[in-house]
Amino acid sequence: MSQTPDQAAQALANGDLILLPTETVYGLGADAGNAQAVAAIFAAKGRPRFNPLISHVVDAKAAAAIGAFGPAACALAEAFWPGPLTLVTPVRDTTRVCDLARAGLDTVAIRVPAHPMARAVLAAFGGPVVAPSANRSGRPSPTTFADAADETGFAAAAAVDGGSCQVGLESTVVSVLDGRVALLRPGAVTRSEIEALVGALADSGEGHRSPGRLALHYAPDAPVRIEADEAKSGEVLLGFGRGVGDPRWSLSPCGDLREAAANLFRLLREADRTHPVGIAVSPIPMTGLGEAINDRLRRAAGFVG
Ligand code: TXA
Ligand code: MG
Repeated sequence: MSQTPDQAAQALANGDLILLPTETVYGLGADAGNAQAVAAIFAAKGRPRFNPLISHVVDAKAAAAIGAFGPAACALAEAFWPGPLTLVTPVRDTTRVCDLARAGLDTVAIRVPAHPMARAVLAAFGGPVVAPSANRSGRPSPTTFADAADETGFAAAAAVDGGSCQVGLESTVVSVLDGRVALLRPGAVTRSEIEALVGALADSGEGHRSPGRLALHYAPDAPVRIEADEAKSGEVLLGFGRGVGDPRWSLSPCGDLREAAANLFRLLREADRTHPVGIAVSPIPMTGLGEAINDRLRRAAGFVG
C-alpha cells in the first residue's frame, strides 16, 4: 500500500514518520522541528543519537531560512540544487530544526531533493523534513520501495512509492564552515564538479566533522570482499565490465559508473538473500562517481574510510 504526497504531508503534520522516495535513496522522514517524531526515527533505525540527520527543504530560499549561506554555499546550491548534494552550514533556526535532529551541533545539514514526489511532500508540508536513509542503522540504504518497506516500513504511518531511485547512492555531503569547503561524504556530485566551482577542497582531516561515518556501514549480512578478480567457492561475484562474472549479478556489464551506482545497494541486498559464503566485488575505477562507489564498498567490507 502506498500513500499520496498529500497524505504523507498530513502524517508529518500529525507527528508521524513517513517513507519518502528521493532520487538518491529512500528516506525515513519526520518533521524536523518535532523532537518526539525525530526521536522515533533514531529508535526505528537503531541509530546512535550522536549522528545528526539531513533536513530536506523544497528550495534554496527555504534552505537559507534554516542555515547560514556564504558565497561558496550559495554557489554550490545554485549549481546542484535540486539534486544529490547536502550542504552543512551554521544553523540559523533551532526551532524548525530541533537539537536532536542536529545531534546538538551548531551546524545543520540541508538538501533540496530532485525527486518529484519528495518535492510534492515538502511543498505540501511546508517545513524542513529530516530524512536519514530508511535502512536500519549499519545496513545498505534502500533504493526500491519494497526494500524501504522491509527495513523501516513498520515505523511509518505513510509510505510513498516513488519507484526505483535513479542515483542509488546517498547524496554528496559538503561542509561550508568558516569559509572552508570540505567533502564529508562522496556521492553523485563528484569531487571534481565541486572543485571546478569553489576551488581545492580542505584536507580530508576535516571529514572527521561528520559524526555518521562509522567504519562498518552499508553492510549486508554476508562478508564483503572488494577488488576481487573472481569468485571463490560459495561467493557471489558482483562484476563490473564486459565478460566479468554472471551478467545477472553485474553492477554494470558495460562498465558504466552511473549504472553501477544505481545497482549497488539493490544487488548487495539480492546477493545477501541467497545466503552466500561471501560477496566478492570487482575492482571499480576511482574516477568520478567511482570515489563514492568505492567509499560505500570499503565501508561494506569493514575498512575504516
Ligand atoms: O541521499 C541522502 O543524503 C539520503 C536521502 C534520504 O536524502 N539521506 C541520508 O541521510 O543519507 P543519512 O542520515 O543516512 O546520512 C546523513 C549523513 C551522515 O553521515 C551524518 O553524519 C551527516 O550526513 N550529517 C548530518 N548532519 C551533519 C552535520 N551537522 N555535520 C556533519 N555531518 C552531518
Ligand atoms: Mg544512512
